[in-house]
Amino acid sequence: MKTGSIANNASLAPHLPLKFTLKDGRECLIREMTEDDAEELCEFLPKTHLESDFLNYLPGEFDKTIDQEREFIREHNAKPCSISMTAVVEGRIVAVAGGASPEQRRYVHHAECGLVVLKEFWGAGLGRRLMGCLVEWARQAGLRKLYLKVFGDNSRAIRLYESLGFVGEGRLKGDVLRGDGTYGDTLIMAHFFVGEP
Ligand SMILES: CC(C)(COP(=O)(O)OP(=O)(O)OC[C@H]1O[C@@H](n2cnc3c(N)ncnc32)[C@H](O)[C@@H]1OP(=O)(O)O)[C@@H](O)C(=O)NCCC(=O)NCCS
Repeated sequence: MKTGSIANNASLAPHLPLKFTLKDGRECLIREMTEDDAEELCEFLPKTHLESDFLNYLPGEFDKTIDQEREFIREHNAKPCSISMTAVVEGRIVAVAGGASPEQRRYVHHAECGLVVLKEFWGAGLGRRLMGCLVEWARQAGLRKLYLKVFGDNSRAIRLYESLGFVGEGRLKGDVLRGDGTYGDTLIMAHFFVGEP
């Protein structure tokens, strides 16, 4: 355990699994992601890249094999301070979210996080639930801040993060190549638990 007072994985997700009802009445289960999700994620993730221009991969760019995805999940979950979550509706993965701290001692007090919801499920309350789980995870891990990067024109996501207590920290200009060939800004937003400036 190299993270000082930061809690280890075993105690980080006491709020999972979480069952709740979506706004459309369907039942949803949010649980920790396992290596067994790899095969379905290799279909789920490329689909999300086709549905949204607000994600890190351009359409068609994701080319991990199931074994590589399995290894990615294994490595992520083995980090001293990390979380990965899968949201399941009617037996299929409809959203994922995760976060992790760097392992260097200078940086273990914070974590970066991210999430994606299948378009068919936008507006059903999943994003808010998943972000709530990430914030709760970070709080219980004893982190000082949880941050994320969001494209500057992703107003829907930015509104969600602001409503959960995230504030803008800075803007990386011309940071990201968009689907239409233009370059856009990336906004860094953080939720401070301790030492908010
Ligand atoms: C951004 C994203 C994660 C939000 O997830 P979601 O499940 O749609 O969000 P929710 O249903 O929990 O809604 C959260 C908030 O979004 C806003 N929202 C929801 N539906 C909306 C709509 N149709 N139009 C505009 N805003 C909407 C509301 O402010 C809502 O707040 P409320 O809970 O008080 O109603 C999801 O749309 C997504 O995955 N988008 C593509 C990828 C992406 O942008 N990921 C984030 C990268 S930083």
